[in-house]
Amino acid sequence: MTILLKNGKKSDNTNLDLLISNGIIKKLNPNSVSADKIINLNGKFILPGIIDPHVHMRDMNQSYKEDWTSGTNSALRGGITTVMDMPNTIPPTINNENLAIKREFAKKSKVNYGFNLGYIGTNSADIREVKKFNAIKVFLCESSGGVPVEDPKQLTNVFKIAEDLQVPLIFHSESGSCIQECTAQFEPIINNHHLIRNRKCAIKTTKVVIEMSYKYNCKVYFAHVATAEEMDLICEAKKLNKNIFCEITPHHLLITRKKLEQVGNWGRVNPPLRDFEDNQRILKAILEGTVDTIGTDHAPHNLDEKNRSYSNAPSGFPGFETCLPLLLNEVNLGNLSLELVEKITSYNSSNIFNIKNRGKIKEGYFADITVIDLEKEFIVNPGLFQTKAKYSPFINMKLKGDVFMTIVNGEIAYKDEKYNNTKGIEIDYR
Ligand code: DOR
Ligand code: ZN
Repeated sequence: MTILLKNGKKSDNTNLDLLISNGIIKKLNPNSVSADKIINLNGKFILPGIIDPHVHMRDMNQSYKEDWTSGTNSALRGGITTVMDMPNTIPPTINNENLAIKREFAKKSKVNYGFNLGYIGTNSADIREVKKFNAIKVFLCESSGGVPVEDPKQLTNVFKIAEDLQVPLIFHSESGSCIQECTAQFEPIINNHHLIRNRKCAIKTTKVVIEMSYKYNCKVYFAHVATAEEMDLICEAKKLNKNIFCEITPHHLLITRKKLEQVGNWGRVNPPLRDFEDNQRILKAILEGTVDTIGTDHAPHNLDEKNRSYSNAPSGFPGFETCLPLLLNEVNLGNLSLELVEKITSYNSSNIFNIKNRGKIKEGYFADITVIDLEKEFIVNPGLFQTKAKYSPFINMKLKGDVFMTIVNGEIAYKDEKYNNTKGIEIDYR
């Protein structure tokens, strides 16, 4: 099967025709025009398929929140062709046995996928037994089932495992003990979420992890960095340690805790939404190259759960279907270049996590492709989402820029509101 994408454009605005053959990018700007299927893109932009380094696909005992079918249709709608799943599921991905269970469920996936293993302080031997996985996730606090590890001995252990196995460590950097202290000081209401999960708690563990990173030869990846102070710390640390990497999310870039007045617990997320100055610092960090990746932190919960009182509502919200449009809207506003968006949504993740033959538009690479329409305007309507979680703090936002087509392993998986019955595969590592 060959597909020719005609009259497309690269993110640098140069013309691109793309020939795909048997799942692989066969030729850029081919001379011949014959193919089984020819699609005229009329000047739309062709990006490498979005690689999302931070997703919670649920399924198994939480399929009422999301499953691999609904979740990956949602990913396709957002132009995402590869997802890296987080371990805080039921059962948790902390050993070979539970990973095998998750792998069975992931066979439904319509995008490509990789699995992160969770470190819970006591499963060092279990992790060392696992043959193929993406990275080790360490929660330094409780968050939607993530088991907190703050003990220095246990942290040392996980650094040693990462060094031995040469796999990246992903940190959810908020101090659980610090959050516990702050919980006692503030009334449990959504407007205090940012005080309970206080910025000082995040800054504290980020300092600890940076200090430890200098002693070990392994990649250290900070998930969803949300405060200006941490961005400053990471920016400085990166000058000394080339093994430090930094992820941000669309919500920590674009909205603040003021949004909670409008959306309440729908905007409850860990780490919390912060302030405008933090948004600005994150934008600056993208522009100066401190930010390596943007993850959706797609964290679907049931709407009834989210509508409970603050103390009983879970943290997290869906992110697949808003991430790329939000970024494209920033491109249209002149705040980000499309080339930069391309880099932080695909190539950098593939590079950090050693993903084989994905993340670039390059001959011989897998044909994971996202075609975007930079001109399309729409209003965010969570009722139309593919995810089971039909709410969003971005509700009613007017955006310019949307996904037109998502190609996974050379197959058109999504195009113009239509989904095909295609399947993704587990990614390989270099
Ligand atoms: O808000 C969050 N939700 N933060 C996390 O760290 C976990 C996530 C989830 O799994 O729901
Ligand atoms: Zn997460």
